[in-house]
Amino acid sequence: MPIQPTTSIWHNGNLIPWEKAQIHVMSHVVHYGSAVFEGIRCYAQPQGAAIFRLQEHMQRLIDSAKIYRMPMPYSLDQLSSAVIELVESNGIAPCYIRPIALRGYGELGVNPKGSPVEVFIGNFPWGKYVAGEGGADVCVSSWNRMAPNTMPSLAKASGNYLNSQLIRMEADVNGYSEGLALDVFGNLSEGSGENIFIVRNGVLFTPPLANSVLSGITRDSVLTLARHLGIPVVEQPLPRELLYIADEVFFTGTAAEVTPIRSVDRVVVADGGVGPITGQISEEFLGIATGLRADRFNWLTPVRVNADQPVTA
Ligand SMILES: Cc1ncc(COP(=O)(O)O)c(C=O)c1O
Repeated sequence: MPIQPTTSIWHNGNLIPWEKAQIHVMSHVVHYGSAVFEGIRCYAQPQGAAIFRLQEHMQRLIDSAKIYRMPMPYSLDQLSSAVIELVESNGIAPCYIRPIALRGYGELGVNPKGSPVEVFIGNFPWGKYVAGEGGADVCVSSWNRMAPNTMPSLAKASGNYLNSQLIRMEADVNGYSEGLALDVFGNLSEGSGENIFIVRNGVLFTPPLANSVLSGITRDSVLTLARHLGIPVVEQPLPRELLYIADEVFFTGTAAEVTPIRSVDRVVVADGGVGPITGQISEEFLGIATGLRADRFNWLTPVRVNADQPVTA
């Protein structure tokens, strides 16, 4: 989906025109993928609009930078305020928010020390991320996620998305909406941009962080909701074949939200419909995000934007 430009982008403390948010081709990030970023949703609500788990996203940005020894020039409060300022200034909700901290123009050796860190934040309208009405048809990728102690999967770093691109493109050329990767030991890991959940016999399973997954904020929200709904939750290494005999399978992610999976490698999950636990969690998640249910976990940051009709993007 093409990006729809908005009016302003936040850059190092100032709002600048969308077209002026540029970097030099010799910037470190262009050559070495040296950036960390976030993806956040702002939801339209009956009373206005609200950003979903803003602080947790900005904390993950700070954590990703720390893993890569990237000095972050702004505090958690400053980054969170910057997002609010931008969203209110551009006046678009619902929207997707993309903060990025990158190594800019300075030196071109691999060592990034001599290249300044620059922070940009943009936002724009964005629609459904994983295709498939009533459930996505996905495949297990021939590509693995990064091995432990190679590219750190807990950092949401630009370079990691080269691996994600291989997974996503392979799925695409083979006619699937998304690919699901194993880790290098053959355990289930995650999608190219989503965490994975499996329901079997009433228990909700998801791979632990040690299986090369990103510590998804939607993953955490779903685990919290499931515990509160009394659904037993287990984080443990999962074999690939559990996918084929699961009662329910779904993806989670800021972009994907809760996306039911209808089939894996053309093997239909149960009867191919959206399962009851997937439905219950999705309804609860979107209910809170869109302001139709109480924000009982304090996940929302209200923003002053004249929102359109609520859109489950
Ligand atoms: C590789 C990967 N895994 C999982 C996720 C889900 O994370 P979150 O729920 O924080 O968006 C994402 C999206 O950010 C991702 O890119």
